[in-house]
Amino acid sequence: MAGPRTPSLVADVHSARDAALKSIADSSDTAGLRKVAAELANKKSPLNAVRAQLGKVADAEEKKAVGRALSEASQAIEEALATAQAALEAAEFAAQVANEKMDLTEYLTESRRGTAHIVTQAMEHLEDVFVGLGFQVAEGPEVETDFYNFEALNMPASHPARSEFDTMFIEPHSPNHQPNTVLLRTHTSPVQIRVMQSWKPPIYAIMPGRVFRRDTPDATHMPVFHQIEGLVVDKGITFAHLAGIIEAFTKAFFGSDFTSRLRPSFFPFTEPSAEFDIRRANGSWIELGGCGMVHPNVLRAGGIDPEEYTGFAFGFGIDRMAKERHAVDDIREMYTNDLRFLRQFT
Ligand code: DAH
Repeated sequence: MAGPRTPSLVADVHSARDAALKSIADSSDTAGLRKVAAELANKKSPLNAVRAQLGKVADAEEKKAVGRALSEASQAIEEALATAQAALEAAEFAAQVANEKMDLTEYLTESRRGTAHIVTQAMEHLEDVFVGLGFQVAEGPEVETDFYNFEALNMPASHPARSEFDTMFIEPHSPNHQPNTVLLRTHTSPVQIRVMQSWKPPIYAIMPGRVFRRDTPDATHMPVFHQIEGLVVDKGITFAHLAGIIEAFTKAFFGSDFTSRLRPSFFPFTEPSAEFDIRRANGSWIELGGCGMVHPNVLRAGGIDPEEYTGFAFGFGIDRMAKERHAVDDIREMYTNDLRFLRQFT
């Protein structure tokens, strides 16, 4: 009664499963795998085609065998899909990371070392020269009190010389702050007082630093600039020592074909006072700064007895010297931080 046995659908399930597993294994990316998964889910996929015929299988044994084969095949395919998905995702993520990786290293094809700014170079050179002459370097605060910047330098409140130093005052928000008593120092001279108060004579000091004035920037002025102050306090110091030091410094700093001269002048903190000029090799003179014998009132403000000690002081601008030395036309160029400018002076 049994007719010729229909070829088992189980074989069809197995070949459909093997084909599916092969397509999964052959997928080289997640997009390809998604396509394979979609095809496998399609009603017309070989496996689903077998599933569709399952209802028509009359033989109960055969039905059971095909059913089991189908469910095993589905499970194997699900697992293969999940494994392939995880592996491909990981590979794609690794590729993306490798692709987006930023190379933060930089290879210098030429050596580009930073260099000190020309004002710093001048300041260091000045320090070297004066240290060579036996001076020590001292520094003071850039925010000063009226006492150190003016009063102790023989410029009491009403002194007309104060108006020459167009000052920038600081107004701290403090209930007991007296207006116009804290300021950005207008010169390095207040450091003279601080040195006298904290050192004992003999004093041979230079005091470089930044100073501030309410100036509009132009080719020769900046509201922030640099000075170097000198102070000598010892027994028997005379104007001749001052002139000698200025001349020794001029030759040491600018070269032996330079010379210096002193012209009578006035500063409240020195008596007598002078301006000093230097003469270039070509015979032209340039004004460098002021100097003089420290005023007795200034020595007293620094706690030094003017009957026992005398001294001299000098002060000059560093920026202008750097400008002069490097033939810079406009002092503002020195502060725009344009590397093309700055790199010329290495
Ligand atoms: N402090 C003066 C200024 O800024 C420069 C100066 C002149 C300093 C004479 C001195 C000095 O020590 O003796 O213009």
